Amino acid sequence: MITKKMQDAFNAQVGAEFYSAFLYLSMAAYLEDIDLPGAANWMRIQYQEEKSHAEKIFEYVIERDGRAEIPAWEAPKKAWKDAMDVFESAYAHEQKVTALIGGLVKTARAEDDHASEIFLQWFVNEQVEEEASVKAIIQQLKMVDTSRGGLYMIDRELASRTFTPPATA
Ligand code: FEO
Repeated sequence: MITKKMQDAFNAQVGAEFYSAFLYLSMAAYLEDIDLPGAANWMRIQYQEEKSHAEKIFEYVIERDGRAEIPAWEAPKKAWKDAMDVFESAYAHEQKVTALIGGLVKTARAEDDHASEIFLQWFVNEQVEEEASVKAIIQQLKMVDTSRGGLYMIDRELASRTFTPPATA
């Protein structure tokens, strides 16, 4: 059985993960609008990943005999300045999510909940990967600067990203 405090913290994170999902789907819509379908594909995959994060936490709360709840989340932003602005916003967002995961780890420790602490390790590692992958795209965008040809090449590469569902906990 999970404590009420841990359960509430996980339920709040479900909302944060769904918010992330729809933020990235909104970014995909914007990237389609500025004719970068590959980058939009990358964000659609990100959307699927975030949904899977929310679901992974949702299922975990249930598995621990807690009461899973879906909180409300705010509507995502709709427009950005350009592709660089999108990926920089995504990077800043992932840093916020990393801090939220860190907060959950602290709660698990305070609640003496070893199972939740172990469960959260997957998310701790995932955040390292997520921050690094967005940062790599920002670095590529910086390299091509305003070159349309360079942007086209990056977009083609981002088009190849596919979704791999995470292994169950
Ligand atoms: Fe679910 Fe991108 O953190």
